Amino acid sequence: MNTSTCIAISTMKPCCIMLVGCRNTLIFGFQFPKCNHTILNNLSKSQLRHNRVICGCSDRALGFRSTIGASRNGFCGSGSDWGETRGFRGGCVVDRRGSRGALGVSVASDVRHHSTSVEGRVNEKGFERIYVQGGLNVKPLVIEKVEREGDVGNEKVEEEEPKVGVNGANVNVDKSRSFNEENILTREREVSETEKEAWDLLRGAVVDYCGNPVGTVAASDPADKLPLNYDQVFIRDFVPSALAFLLNGEGDIVKNFLLHTLQLQSWEKTVDCHSPGQGLMPASFKVRTVPLEGRNGEFEDVLDPDFGESAIGRVAPVDSGLWWIILLRAYGRITGDYTLQERVDVQTGIRLILKLCLTDGFDMFPTLLVTDGSCMIDRRMGIHGHPLEIQALFYSALRSSREMLNVNDATKNLVAAINNRLSALSFHIREYYWVDMKKINEIYRYKTEEYSTDAINKFNIYPDQIPYWLVDWIPETGGYLIGNLQPAHMDFRFFTLGNLWSIISSLGTPKQNDGILHLMEDKWDDLVADMPLKICYPALEYEEWRIITGSDPKNTPWSYHNGGSWPTLLWQFTLACIKMRRPELATKAVALAEKRLSVDRWPEYYDTRHGRFIGKQSRLFQTWTVAGFLTSKMLLEKPEMASMLFWEEDFELLENCVCSLDKSSRKKCSRFAARSQLVG
Ligand code: GLC
Repeated sequence: MNTSTCIAISTMKPCCIMLVGCRNTLIFGFQFPKCNHTILNNLSKSQLRHNRVICGCSDRALGFRSTIGASRNGFCGSGSDWGETRGFRGGCVVDRRGSRGALGVSVASDVRHHSTSVEGRVNEKGFERIYVQGGLNVKPLVIEKVEREGDVGNEKVEEEEPKVGVNGANVNVDKSRSFNEENILTREREVSETEKEAWDLLRGAVVDYCGNPVGTVAASDPADKLPLNYDQVFIRDFVPSALAFLLNGEGDIVKNFLLHTLQLQSWEKTVDCHSPGQGLMPASFKVRTVPLEGRNGEFEDVLDPDFGESAIGRVAPVDSGLWWIILLRAYGRITGDYTLQERVDVQTGIRLILKLCLTDGFDMFPTLLVTDGSCMIDRRMGIHGHPLEIQALFYSALRSSREMLNVNDATKNLVAAINNRLSALSFHIREYYWVDMKKINEIYRYKTEEYSTDAINKFNIYPDQIPYWLVDWIPETGGYLIGNLQPAHMDFRFFTLGNLWSIISSLGTPKQNDGILHLMEDKWDDLVADMPLKICYPALEYEEWRIITGSDPKNTPWSYHNGGSWPTLLWQFTLACIKMRRPELATKAVALAEKRLSVDRWPEYYDTRHGRFIGKQSRLFQTWTVAGFLTSKMLLEKPEMASMLFWEEDFELLENCVCSLDKSSRKKCSRFAARSQLVG
């Protein structure tokens, strides 16, 4: 079978942009008039860095529908090129003189015409076999629309003047928007100097692929001689950038990001001859500009993903797919453009991620079992097993998917599996991860070695595990969700991201969510202090540090992942505070950050017990620090936007239980217990 697939996207003005993804490229019947090279400003840093390519072609191809063969794996990537270059050779000939701002290319699956070409099939147990009729995961692409410079704005009669202009970058502008105008920040207001600087930095961090913005680099410190992978677009790091753009009425970059990372999901991944699951999303990707074979002086943009095969420690990016789903939902809710999530390829992408997460394994628990370093904490920190952060993101992704999946015969079992998992997961976390004064006192008096189905100490936790610091630290009121739970092991450290996402997603009960925020307020000096927010509390010290981190010099006590303070966590804190009707807490934290971030050149993290010093090995001009600050500011200014991003308690989930045990049964059904959690 001829597996060549051709996708061509090209525009005439101001330069050509082509996306050709096959060895035997067939571009039928298209006339390629000469392109008009126009030098435009607004180049991102990455563009400037690679500003050496001049496009030699002059193409314009519209309405191109791919002729797709065997699989989505083959999308843009069949032929020998595939093996030669690690990058995603669905590249384009690039003209680095072009401007991303000047044209918009929207590429979309033709859902209407291909609605039967991708079909999920479920086996009896559910969704395990998701396959595509006529080939695995075909991803049909057509050009939906190519907007040229002149077209932009023609649809709108008048384009309003930007209200605030910062060095050419429009901040909080009220431009004609392509989406929910009432949702965008429309009020004219004073933007602080720090915010202006932040917008400039955020725009400067934008990475282009084929002339279109697709993400933001992790850090852009011009003085950093060894950026390692900080010059890449990280999936998790892009989320606050995406939200800042969305809240500012700029949806294109987010849409491009979602679609390009979706393509990367299909990348054939192998690490030492082992192939991880098809649904795996990369931790990060880089846009490389490489010479075009056989085309003298011409270059193409290539996407080069990292699925963990290059990452330090070869960590598996479990959170990437979860973040991708969460962002997809946010995009739909903020822009009102639900067509993206309805696309066949996007629906398939969601299902592939879920397939990885919901596949049966040896697990006894509904929580997701992962290796160390599989999330924001991407180094050894003793969080392998069932870390809270992953569970909270998993829960959020499941709730997002439930909202977004088209329900039909092919997906109904998957949707049922999602519902079951959601209720089992929330029960498990609410029941076993929650600690407060009362619960710690119970653990303190636990009997051990109980063999029976109605054991009280189900995980055989030895009371001596309760750490010294916790006995004094736990407040009289309030509490939190512990970091991890395994047989005979409770990790009592407080992990901020997991607790915040439990509030945001309603993984915790309303009372627990309230209790977490109460604890954070009570323990302000430990968790916020001079710089919001501690990634975890307390730090591992001495022998514990040596054994648990493997003597990691980057994760020394009160530094980096080991009790360092990460300003990027501010936006999630803000979201949680707004949800719990405590915006004043977020305002206080944002004010603290605003005093220092710009002066300190936007560090990645801070060190010491109270976050007083810029982190030992901290990157400067870290994008998610910048974006987290901006997103917090915008959410506080327009708190109603926050409601697009969080979830309220879902009472239906509490009714839902697969175990078919009733109240009188010898074994307890979690359904009844789940309801009692609410009042308890
Ligand atoms: C560090 C962080 C990780 C982040 C990356 C890029 O590795 O631990 O969470 O995604 O830097 O900023």
